[in-house]
Amino acid sequence: MQEPPRLADSESYQGEAVPIPNGPSALLVHLDNTARRLTTPWQICMIRAELLRKCSLPEGAILDPACGAGLQVSALANALKKDVLAIESNQERAEMAAANLARISAWLGNENTGSVIIGDGTNSTSIIKLFENKKQISLFYFDPARPSGSTTHDLSEMRPLLNEVLDAWKSHLNETDFGPAIVLDLSPRLSELRRSQVEELIEERWPKIAKTWQWASRGSGRIDRLSLWLGAAADPQNERRFIRIPPSIHSEPLILGSGEHNFSNPIEDRTFPRKGEVLTMLDSALVSSGIAPSWLKTVLQEGDEFQWQNITGRRPIITHREALSFEHPLDSKLIQASGRIVSLIRSPLEMEHLHNFVEKSIDAGIGKLTLRVSLNPELQPVIQRELDICLRRSGGAKTGFITRASEEDHLLLCIDE
Ligand SMILES: C[S@@+](CC[C@H](N)C(=O)[O-])C[C@H]1O[C@@H](n2cnc3c(N)ncnc32)[C@H](O)[C@@H]1O
Repeated sequence: MQEPPRLADSESYQGEAVPIPNGPSALLVHLDNTARRLTTPWQICMIRAELLRKCSLPEGAILDPACGAGLQVSALANALKKDVLAIESNQERAEMAAANLARISAWLGNENTGSVIIGDGTNSTSIIKLFENKKQISLFYFDPARPSGSTTHDLSEMRPLLNEVLDAWKSHLNETDFGPAIVLDLSPRLSELRRSQVEELIEERWPKIAKTWQWASRGSGRIDRLSLWLGAAADPQNERRFIRIPPSIHSEPLILGSGEHNFSNPIEDRTFPRKGEVLTMLDSALVSSGIAPSWLKTVLQEGDEFQWQNITGRRPIITHREALSFEHPLDSKLIQASGRIVSLIRSPLEMEHLHNFVEKSIDAGIGKLTLRVSLNPELQPVIQRELDICLRRSGGAKTGFITRASEEDHLLLCIDE
């Protein structure tokens, strides 16, 4: 039989306090090894809280039915100045969350009116009774537990289950004209099929609710976070949002939006890259979020257009006529490389043909050439070293790279723009 839910005491947890991950070093919280693995870095907690501060949320408390050590819900409570109802099935972690909520609120100089419940996040009836049926929910924030080694990212792996937790709390969620405010923190590796399954679960309960999918990345082409923002929490202008998280917690993130739901596959009418064109290798996380086309409109020169050469894999490539122009300090982090094509080389990239690459580079004034192609991992450093030695002697002042737009194409020698 399920244990009745009960309030976690913020003074019960006796473990030591450590600096909050990715946050101010003076802010100390409680985390054990498991909670540290599960928790959301403070920088991300605060970026989300700031985005929600711009939304018109309904009245009521923030509900987190699987709160872990409570860092995200604490960030939301303090930024939005709202009451909290957080639930965690693991008693020790629930006590940790209660202590963290109190610590974080005190550190930020705010009153803590929140409650952390030890119990099952789907047990809404008993939990609401603890508050004499008076709790109304402003924002439903859900970050379920998932098996760490999952390859399928099936929705049935979430704990608690998404459909069960939604059904349990649906009638307690306050609504605005845009519906309830919901944020679902999902696996960053959720496939398009799984994303549409999540959308179906939502549509069954709130037909036509506004949706914004949000990808967040710290760079290197990796998607670190994927979340779905719904109803009063969604951005009505943007069905997709991409956030480039800055390396420093003191810098502002780059937030890009796109109104397009799907991006069509634009590779079909590809024309081969030509000498004189600019080739740009984009950040693969930006491309998989589907935001690249709308971001490119902001960084391409007026009148310029781009052509997809390759849209999948680690090195998505476009070609265009003029150099890109960047305004935001993080814009340049959304490309891996950009350069003007100076030569098309038909020789294979092998030691015995390397002289072709060296000669063409010297002709173009290149003194340092980077390999940006998939090569046998043993051969890659050998070829790179040989190129470095040959070109260092040439005294060329320019830098460049060598790449291939698609598997069947020639190699392209480019000078960095
Ligand atoms: C990914 S963690 C949440 C992390 C949290 N958002 C943070 O920022 O620290 C998910 C939590 O859900 C808890 N959980 C799993 N099943 C649950 C259930 N049925 N009811 C309540 N909590 C549950 C797990 O114990 C785990 O601590």
